[in-house]
Amino acid sequence: MQANVVVVGSLNMDLVARAERLPRPGETLAGDSFATVPGGKGANQAVAAARLGASVAMVGCVGSDAYGEQLRQALLVERIDCQAVSTAQGASSGLAMIVVDANSQNAIVIIPGGNGLLTPASVQAADALLQGSEVVIAQLEVPSATVGHTLQRARELGKTVILNPAPAAQPLPSEWYPHLDYLIPNESEAQALTGIAVFSLDTARLAAERLLELGARRVMITLGGEGVLYVDAQGSEHFAAPRVQPVDTTAAGDTFVGAFAAGLASGKSPREAILFGQIAAALSVTRAGAQPSIPTLADVQGFIAA
Ligand code: RIB
Repeated sequence: MQANVVVVGSLNMDLVARAERLPRPGETLAGDSFATVPGGKGANQAVAAARLGASVAMVGCVGSDAYGEQLRQALLVERIDCQAVSTAQGASSGLAMIVVDANSQNAIVIIPGGNGLLTPASVQAADALLQGSEVVIAQLEVPSATVGHTLQRARELGKTVILNPAPAAQPLPSEWYPHLDYLIPNESEAQALTGIAVFSLDTARLAAERLLELGARRVMITLGGEGVLYVDAQGSEHFAAPRVQPVDTTAAGDTFVGAFAAGLASGKSPREAILFGQIAAALSVTRAGAQPSIPTLADVQGFIAA
């Protein structure tokens, strides 16, 4: 089946320790539990879009270790097209070392592995997938040149282009902005992109307006439990988050992005797709882990009906 959502991005095996609190520098801390869970921002977004009704293809690269095959299988069971997920011989797969504390906050260190070997040529080789899609999503866990190529090509093809600039530590290349239909940073990423400290709705609006000036068509800043701020040339709207009891916030942003893309691909308006994405993200924080926490369409419909 032709994929209507294509995700170009990372696949990581998440090595997740739970502990009362995050360790301090130099400290050894006894934890409570450990799990190995498929993750990676790109793969999580692909799984979210697939579970929430989209037909999805992934463009990525895993290593030739055991994790690589597990990461690919985790997508295949979701019926995600993995023909453009390559295996880099001799390389390790992407890894994320994650600590989750008793307040469900996390700290993550990523090791790129195969993700660092995803080249613009890999995306060129998957051009037919991009051509056949409606929505193309990228993040920043693969090389910058690969992201740049993806955004430019998706724009040339007239696709809806979504960039989740995660993780962001510095401003984006200025030539990327005109390619972006939707730029979806969280607060710290919005700050890294603009230099504007984001700690309130007003400061988030300032940062979003700056991102519009740089050329993005629409900006959505995800604010965790405070919801989402949407800003375009016509104005802004704040969407409060559904109230849930959080267990683990890992992949909540990815779930929002993937669900939002699936919503758009199914014909929802941006406003409807935001509300849909928010419910999916809220449900994801009530469960542990990255991909295991992502809800299905039936879960979201059940939440709406309840
Ligand atoms: O956004 C959550 C993801 O970030 C985790 O699954 C981890 O792999 C890191 O990429």
